[in-house]
Amino acid sequence: MCGIVGYIGPKQAAGFLLEGLSKLEYRGYDSAGIAVFDGEKINVTKTVGRLAVLKDQLKNNMPQGQIGIGHTRWATHGRPSDVNSHPHTDCTGNFVVVHNGIIENYLDLKEKLIEKGHVFVSETDTEVVAHLLEEYYDGDFEGAVKKVLAAIEGSYSLVFMTKFDPDKIICSKKDNPLVIGLGQGENFIASDIPAIINYTRRTYILSDGEMAVVTKDSVWVMNRQGVPVSKKVFEVNWDAEAAEKGGYEHFMIKEIYEQPKVIRETMSGRLAKDNSEIIFDELKWTKEDLVGIKKILITACGTAYHAGFVAKYFIEQLARIPVEVDIASEFRYRTPLVDESTLAIVISQSGETIDTLAALKEAKRLGARTLAVTNVVGSSIAREADHVIYTWAGPEIAVASTKAYTTQLVSVFMLALYLAGLKEAIAPERMKELVAGLKNLPAQAHEVLDDVEPIKTFAEKYGFSEDVFFIGRSLDYAVALEGALKLKEISYIHAEAYAAGELKHGTLALIIEGVPVIALATQSDVYDKTLSNIKEVKARDAVVIGIGFVGDKQLEKYVDHTILIPRTEKYLAPILSVIPLQLLAYYAAITRGCDVDKPRNLAKSVTVE
Ligand code: M6R
Repeated sequence: MCGIVGYIGPKQAAGFLLEGLSKLEYRGYDSAGIAVFDGEKINVTKTVGRLAVLKDQLKNNMPQGQIGIGHTRWATHGRPSDVNSHPHTDCTGNFVVVHNGIIENYLDLKEKLIEKGHVFVSETDTEVVAHLLEEYYDGDFEGAVKKVLAAIEGSYSLVFMTKFDPDKIICSKKDNPLVIGLGQGENFIASDIPAIINYTRRTYILSDGEMAVVTKDSVWVMNRQGVPVSKKVFEVNWDAEAAEKGGYEHFMIKEIYEQPKVIRETMSGRLAKDNSEIIFDELKWTKEDLVGIKKILITACGTAYHAGFVAKYFIEQLARIPVEVDIASEFRYRTPLVDESTLAIVISQSGETIDTLAALKEAKRLGARTLAVTNVVGSSIAREADHVIYTWAGPEIAVASTKAYTTQLVSVFMLALYLAGLKEAIAPERMKELVAGLKNLPAQAHEVLDDVEPIKTFAEKYGFSEDVFFIGRSLDYAVALEGALKLKEISYIHAEAYAAGELKHGTLALIIEGVPVIALATQSDVYDKTLSNIKEVKARDAVVIGIGFVGDKQLEKYVDHTILIPRTEKYLAPILSVIPLQLLAYYAAITRGCDVDKPRNLAKSVTVE
């Protein structure tokens, strides 16, 4: 999730590029850069740090020229650093490119380009694009870009510029946004509308596979086959704030709807084409690396802790390694039994949560090997851990964590399969089924998001309840914990999650007529037991909303309402079943008039004890 801008016209490009980037900083802010053609050569200025650092560097040395591109980065491949910042250039500096997304086959391409003599300076996936352009260029800029697009796999919005054709910028997109702002004698390119609305409200929104050749007076859009596409002008009528949220009312709902995309990105390049294995280039462990590991310890806070709770099921059931899960603030003060035989995993969206960082340091001090699952490249936790798996969720701005959670689940599931593969604890056929299941998730998450109306209705109906209970068994219990946290943190409704089998041990006393109970029933091995628990609460006149798989007639018989998710493997159900719970929390908070993105008393990142 990075921000991209481009300008071609009669004015100095740098002015728009810097202003446009400042409107996109919410998309990524670990480094920034611009490239401007001055009539002779392309001048690139880029630096690690916030946009303010770049502006400071340019203060007395603003690049001159009427065509340029710019970028603000949220690191995925390669830590935040000057060389890893965009724009990226080829060996000669004649071709320049900015990118948002992930080039999945970059390692293959890089190897081949190195064999041909190209010299790489960064660790990024993007740099291959600039070198490929250099490689394919034979006097035809457009033709070379087409070849580049045919060679790369993955997701991208890409903007290209060359000194050999200084009257055009070419751009293209797949699975990442790109818009062209239509001006008078000038045109603008941006990953998102906020960058351009101070300049024009007339836009072309590019679709996947389209490529646009942009000059100052014209915009030619064509499809993958080179056939011209006639685009409709989209008039933007959002105000600046709405534009930042992509037209959504809140960051939280925007982030909920980003889940299909970020789930796909988090898996990108990590699933073998034939589904036979998980590829973690960042780990490259062998069977021998696991020798001596007797247990896994997972520590985290809040939503990330709930992801750890799910991870325990995944790892124990698939890789057959014992897993302990602990809240980081508890772990650090309980003189834990950790040593060299422990693999300590910490999970943290921000990579800065103070208790999680302290738990990581403590585990390290006691001799454990450490692995972080985090969303922020270069964060304190990423730097401290021996190994890191990044979730590629992009910046999460709403205090309530949504897309970070689902990408954490995808990451820890891939990790469980990875460990199971190394330990040969899983049959090859089963591995294939589960990887195939992962590949279906983005489309299935879309289906869940398309069915929002019933959830809005429940939220309106039960949004003023004083208490809501979430019940489930096994992985459904783990999701229930997250559903309850979401509801309480943004709607302030008292919400509790219980392992359904525990009801009789006390909680049942709280179940009275009309109390909403959200019952998750996606786990086939405990399904009948869960139905019995549903009957128990129904017998006390609770209003039960059942969450199960499409086609579950049995569940429909026993509950008052159902929310049905597409069928998937039992391990993957949490990644889908949590989405209706996020939506329920969101719409309940809206019903109650709460400040969704900034709930009272809470901060996005807890960096003090
Ligand atoms: O950045 P982290 O993942 O370490 O944050 C941990 C918790 O503070 C966080 O998940 C918190 O619980 C969320 N607000 C929940 O939505």
